[in-house]
Amino acid sequence: MPPPPQDPDLAALFDAAIAARARAYAPYSRFAVGAALRDEHGRVHAGCNVENAAYPVGTCAEAGAVAAMILAGGRRIRALLVLGDGAGPVTPCGACRQRIREFADGDTSIHAADSAGVNRSFTLDGLLPASFGPETLGA
Ligand code: THU
Repeated sequence: MPPPPQDPDLAALFDAAIAARARAYAPYSRFAVGAALRDEHGRVHAGCNVENAAYPVGTCAEAGAVAAMILAGGRRIRALLVLGDGAGPVTPCGACRQRIREFADGDTSIHAADSAGVNRSFTLDGLLPASFGPETLGA
């Protein structure tokens, strides 16, 4: 079992993700997830998964955290942590990798954690190589 993060920046993301996960609405999968990210101002934004009786309508924890960042005026993700008690590291789903890609750099850290601590750390490029983004559009 990994220990809780020692790095205070990572520990703040971990704590926020734990608190967010406690509010998850996941009656169908019973797989509660919390996510937390740090924006370019150093602020932490969190989200939880919100499922729906019409299953595909459910949203991931990362989507909530990104929405919270945008609402608060943040535009860049400096680091993100996703937390769930899975049978292995809980990494962002494919759609969420793209969602994160919009606001993060290739070398941005994405941490996968469970209740005990961070299991594995990735870069966005590692999770989503050769990605499509705003620059591709010339935006
Ligand atoms: N889920 C997330 O919220 N984030 C992830 O990174 C992986 C999956 C949610 C979606 C669904 O509510 C539940 O976990 C099971 O797939």
